[in-house]
Amino acid sequence: MHHDKRGLPITAASQAAVDAFDASVDEFLASGRDAALLLKRIADVDPDMIMGQCLRGYFMRLPSLARLTAQSHDALAKAEALAPAGTDREQKHVKALAAWCAGDLRGTTAIWESILVDHPHDMLALRLAHFLHFFLGDLPQMRDSMARLMPRWAPDIPGYGYVLGCRAFSLEENGDYAQAEPLGRKAVEINENDIWAGHAVAHVLEMQGRRQDGIKWVDSHEDAWRERGIFAHHIWWHRALCYLELEQFDAVMNAYDNQFWTEPSEDNTDICNASAMLMRLDMLGLDVGDRWSSIAEVCATRIDERLRPFNDMHYVMALTMDGRRDDAVAMVNSMRAFCEDSATKGVTVADTYRNAGIPVAEAIIAHGDKNYARVVDIMRGARYEMRPLGGSWAQRDVWVRMFIHAAIKDNQNELARALLAERTAANPTSGPTWKTFAETLAKCGASADADSARAKAAALLAA
Ligand SMILES: [Fe+2]
Repeated sequence: MHHDKRGLPITAASQAAVDAFDASVDEFLASGRDAALLLKRIADVDPDMIMGQCLRGYFMRLPSLARLTAQSHDALAKAEALAPAGTDREQKHVKALAAWCAGDLRGTTAIWESILVDHPHDMLALRLAHFLHFFLGDLPQMRDSMARLMPRWAPDIPGYGYVLGCRAFSLEENGDYAQAEPLGRKAVEINENDIWAGHAVAHVLEMQGRRQDGIKWVDSHEDAWRERGIFAHHIWWHRALCYLELEQFDAVMNAYDNQFWTEPSEDNTDICNASAMLMRLDMLGLDVGDRWSSIAEVCATRIDERLRPFNDMHYVMALTMDGRRDDAVAMVNSMRAFCEDSATKGVTVADTYRNAGIPVAEAIIAHGDKNYARVVDIMRGARYEMRPLGGSWAQRDVWVRMFIHAAIKDNQNELARALLAERTAANPTSGPTWKTFAETLAKCGASADADSARAKAAALLAA
């Protein structure tokens, strides 16, 4: 029996195969570019390695791309055939891959979590469980998963820094910024390639409204993170969010064109970055030119692909804003058909489409129609149902902004006033939010409050 770099027994033809497996997992942890290449190396060295097939199956599902998910079934078939010769842990991985392929995402995380109870150093189960909890918006589960594991790790165990990074992000998304920030910073100190940990810190700074710190944080690690894979684009997107709140719109456009949407991309993180940023800019009244069209072009090829509701919301935004209303409506109809199809019984995301995806997508289309009253009607309730869409609080915020924007556009001034009171309480350092609040207060006749909000906005934007 061979062992992986953390000492877990692994069924393989040779140590070289195990080393290739470890290298591939490492590349995944560092959001590297070469994960696919390394997968091929495993296949070359040991095509019958159970964990190699599981890894391939997992990797084919991670990006939520239809052309890849088809391949995950092939990996599953091979892994299932090999499973009887495997250890209990390896057999559980095969079952987890089967559950994922069947669309039972919470069944999948349950299996990984059961592996982690007995094998807390199973880095692959750890990182994938972290990923899928996040995908599902299962934030307490994401936090608790890492809390259970932390005491079982120590600095001398390979990959310790990555574990700190996951812990940091799980705390951040649960609002514990004070605990999250030093852990994320520590992880980056251990290994500057740990872009996920760096991202956790970027989120803390975003949620605390520390825009200058956010820009400085990304600037100071830019050289290292540029060498990471596509995920680096998402970090540039985070920095652009800081520019946006400082009303440095030229810097936002520059980042858009030269850093995170330099050319049309099929990658979902790229699409989400681009679509969400253009939507924010559009709602602020900025002219984004023809930038929607290259995103919409890709999204139009995915009308009937129902893999991740969160991504689909960004597709619907791009299609709607590019004037392809029919395509956007067709996508929502496809979501409905997906939910009604008996074959999707037990498929986790069907519930998410039903409860959150379809309402939010309809609100996006209504927003495109300038039917702002309808947006308000939908989003009043839907805003509190959005967490299962997954993604981060910072990402889902685009639809909260859309709700407030619609209330303003529909001259529902008292509602807008109430929502902006709530938003300034949560984001007291956002200059643009105070500015909008001041305009709304003036419309409501609260001129003294409007003056004070205007002064706050001016002070924040001058800082
Ligand atoms: Fe993020």
